[in-house]
Amino acid sequence: MRDLTARRALFVGGSSGMGLASARLFQRLGAEVILAGRSSDRLDAARRTLDATGPVAVLAFDMTEPEQVGEAMSRLEAEQIDFLVITAASVTHGPFAEQPVSELRAMFDSKFWGVYGVARAALPVLRDGGAIVLFSGVLSRRPGINCAALGAACAAVEALTRGLALELGPRLRVNCIAPGMVRTELHDRLPAERRESMFEATGASLPVGRIGRAEEVAEAVLLAATNGYMTGQVLDVDGGHTIRQYATR
Ligand SMILES: NC(=O)c1ccc[n+]([C@@H]2O[C@H](COP(=O)([O-])OP(=O)(O)OC[C@H]3O[C@@H](n4cnc5c(N)ncnc54)[C@H](OP(=O)(O)O)[C@@H]3O)[C@@H](O)[C@H]2O)c1
Repeated sequence: MRDLTARRALFVGGSSGMGLASARLFQRLGAEVILAGRSSDRLDAARRTLDATGPVAVLAFDMTEPEQVGEAMSRLEAEQIDFLVITAASVTHGPFAEQPVSELRAMFDSKFWGVYGVARAALPVLRDGGAIVLFSGVLSRRPGINCAALGAACAAVEALTRGLALELGPRLRVNCIAPGMVRTELHDRLPAERRESMFEATGASLPVGRIGRAEEVAEAVLLAATNGYMTGQVLDVDGGHTIRQYATR
């Protein structure tokens, strides 16, 4: 494991799920972490779950509001961030012919334009030699029924990753994590029984026989952020979702 002492990492989406798990791992390795998200209450609650002896700051802003993003970045000093990890997104599913386009536009505002805007606004605060880690999802290449627009948004993030890696190198590296199904607060909006049966059915269909844990994805975030020879890549951390069989074994 790497020593991240004297490194600083900003996690946009750090109050929950894979962002918080990544922040916890980076902090354990010595990094100073900054958690960002919309809700100050969630950020404070997340901060309390991290090691109180390590420095942790919070930054509340909505990444779909460019003014808030600009204001948040202006609170950080120039060239002080080594790693920018953006897990934040609000996503939606539904039948292609029925889902309101306004709902899908709002999803793109978050999952694509929010990420785009944060990465751009963060350029002055990122240190030379730093790294950006974005998040897409397996749907970019393995579609699901009622998920066409979400798959398209994920694919857009992956294309952005490759474009930024080319344009921002060698000053910065840019990679993307494509998770499969992972148990996080993202799924809390589903009724518990439905959620658990979805986790079980998806897990049973995967080569690894279960869905993922946020801590497992955090290890991939660490690799993407710290491996100096990796850029423009999409890492699938999905239990084998992209190669799974649909029929049960
Ligand atoms: N979990 C899965 O099964 C799965 C599968 C494939 C892909 N993914 C992708 O992986 C990423 C991380 O997912 P996760 O499960 O860790 O999500 P999560 O637990 O729901 O966490 C999302 C985080 O983003 C923040 N956030 C959401 N909208 C925001 C906004 N507009 N501005 C600022 N912060 C915002 C949330 O805090 P606030 O609500 O307080 O803002 C929260 O901290 C997402 O991009 C998701 O699409 C997840």
